[in-house]
Amino acid sequence: MSFGWHRIWKDHFVASLNPGFTAKPGPSPQRILDVAGGTGDIAFRMLRQAHVINENPETHVTISDINPAMLSVGRQRAESQLPVNQLEALSFLEADATSFRQLDGTFSVDSASIDLYTVAFGIRNFTDIPAALREAYRVLRPGGVFACLEFSKIASTDENPAAALFDAVYKRWSFSAIPMIGQIVAGDRDSYQYLVESIERFPSQDEFRDMIVDAGFVVGGRGYENLTGGIAAIHKGMKPLDG
Ligand SMILES: C[S@@+](CC[C@H](N)C(=O)[O-])C[C@H]1O[C@@H](n2cnc3c(N)ncnc32)[C@H](O)[C@@H]1O
Repeated sequence: MSFGWHRIWKDHFVASLNPGFTAKPGPSPQRILDVAGGTGDIAFRMLRQAHVINENPETHVTISDINPAMLSVGRQRAESQLPVNQLEALSFLEADATSFRQLDGTFSVDSASIDLYTVAFGIRNFTDIPAALREAYRVLRPGGVFACLEFSKIASTDENPAAALFDAVYKRWSFSAIPMIGQIVAGDRDSYQYLVESIERFPSQDEFRDMIVDAGFVVGGRGYENLTGGIAAIHKGMKPLDG
């Protein structure tokens, strides 16, 4: 449905985070939590960037998802696609990102245990986004980074006068064509209807940035980067060093 743009956005998301990079020469441990990680698209890219490009084998990625079936597909994909050293640096966690608290009261992800928290095309579906942001803040160490890739809103007309026309065409396309194509290709109109409605409901770039700040993160500049005119956006926040 994205004409392949999601792959470019994901590549750019991971490259912009540059996992595994160390300022000093030599490997250094990095713990990444990819929330709503589904079948591993982001995690596999992270491992490749860290282990192959940045030559840092001490980067570990946990794929966390609420849906065990997604994790199971992720496991199978990992076993068939990743070299052994990357496979050994990958783990899976079934959990609801709005609360990592378990039945016995302990947390499945410890406080201040994570260097980089990523969530791609997931947070839009969470029932309680502020709770997920609070959990992201809790699990990150001071100085740790929250990074989110999500569908967003076409950039404002102040920034780009052509945006109003682009926005109108995009909305017409998404609300009429996407559910129809979903019906024809996947036999599932409702899921694709939900997709476009959830994108429409999700906060604007500025509103979401403000939610990230409300959770305690500090943001650089305006706090986000628009992709493809704002069809998607990357938001980043850092847990303060004294947080
Ligand atoms: C569209 S998929 C995105 C998967 C992957 N991040 C990617 O970009 O390819 C959304 C994922 O969010 C997961 N999800 C939805 N609600 C969740 C929650 N409360 N906690 C954790 N994962 C959740 C779903 O199970 C699904 O795997």
